[in-house]
Amino acid sequence: MKIIVLGRSGQLGQCLLEQFSSSEPQSNDATFTTQLFGKSECDLTNFHQIREVFLTHSPDVIINAAAYTAVDAAEDNAVLADNLNHKAVSLLAELCYEFDSVLIHISTDYVFDGRGTTPYLESAPTAPQGVYGTTKLLGEQAIAATKCKQIIIRSAWIFSEHGSNFLKTMLRLGDERDHIRVVDDQYGTPTYAQDLARAIIEILPYIANKTCPWGTYHYAGNSTVSWFEFAQQIFSSAKALSLKTPEKLSAIATTEYPTPAPRPAYSALSTELFTGTFAMKPSDWRAGIDRTLAKVTK
Ligand SMILES: NC(=O)c1ccc[n+]([C@@H]2O[C@H](COP(=O)([O-])OP(=O)(O)OC[C@H]3O[C@@H](n4cnc5c(N)ncnc54)[C@H](OP(=O)(O)O)[C@@H]3O)[C@@H](O)[C@H]2O)c1
Repeated sequence: MKIIVLGRSGQLGQCLLEQFSSSEPQSNDATFTTQLFGKSECDLTNFHQIREVFLTHSPDVIINAAAYTAVDAAEDNAVLADNLNHKAVSLLAELCYEFDSVLIHISTDYVFDGRGTTPYLESAPTAPQGVYGTTKLLGEQAIAATKCKQIIIRSAWIFSEHGSNFLKTMLRLGDERDHIRVVDDQYGTPTYAQDLARAIIEILPYIANKTCPWGTYHYAGNSTVSWFEFAQQIFSSAKALSLKTPEKLSAIATTEYPTPAPRPAYSALSTELFTGTFAMKPSDWRAGIDRTLAKVTK
């Protein structure tokens, strides 16, 4: 089975690269070959190049880990965000339908408006608040409209040793400042990107064996916390490794930290459908913090 990953240099792309390199997953009747493409091999704003990828490689599976992910910058770059997160995704889905390929696409908890109080099910009504969430939802809807063989995985609060993320920002601020203030009234489910990569890889044998239940799933962390509580856990783990941590960590309200894009106050994702269907555990994000720290401090 020929697998192509888009978004090689991103957090998830790098984790997929590492895990595919360490062991090619196998099923009873299929061996997987993988190629990972960055922007230079497949620029999602270049629709001709996207089609060429299908014509040249005839992939059985496309894993789309590429996206416009800058939540605040998206407010001023709506056209680019829409091109990447919606129009390019729409084309990927049409090509998957035409070439009989499977599309595994990653979406976000930011498709929800945040008024929930218990972890969101896949069937919960969507109502994104900002440009990023809106374009990601349009991407999901475009995929569904093509009826290609599809797995959409909504994830949340992704962090890892790669790229930019909240954990790395906390480590940097902890090194620079004695006092850090973190929002304590937005709740979500942090997800270690290596766990998400593993979850995606675990789906492949189901595809190879033609037993994959297509649809939309949630894969995220195993418990819900605020950004402040997430930061507390990061600094607790960092302290255990004798890294510099701030003397004072203060909990603040969203109103005290205004951002260009509004964020959902509550965007925890229920992972039961995914974990039940594919016999996987949700992301153990606390262990993920320890694994990330071990790697970034090596
Ligand atoms: N990060 C989160 O907290 C979070 C939460 C929920 C869902 N998600 C979703 O999870 C997926 C993976 O996120 P991530 O954190 O791994 O993202 P990331 O680290 O920001 O990586 C995004 C990737 O997209 C690529 N990209 C940007 N513009 C491109 C273009 N024009 N053509 C081709 N590739 C392009 C980037 O390449 P360059 O580096 O070369 O620009 C990068 O490899 C995304 O779909 C995102 O929406 C993320």
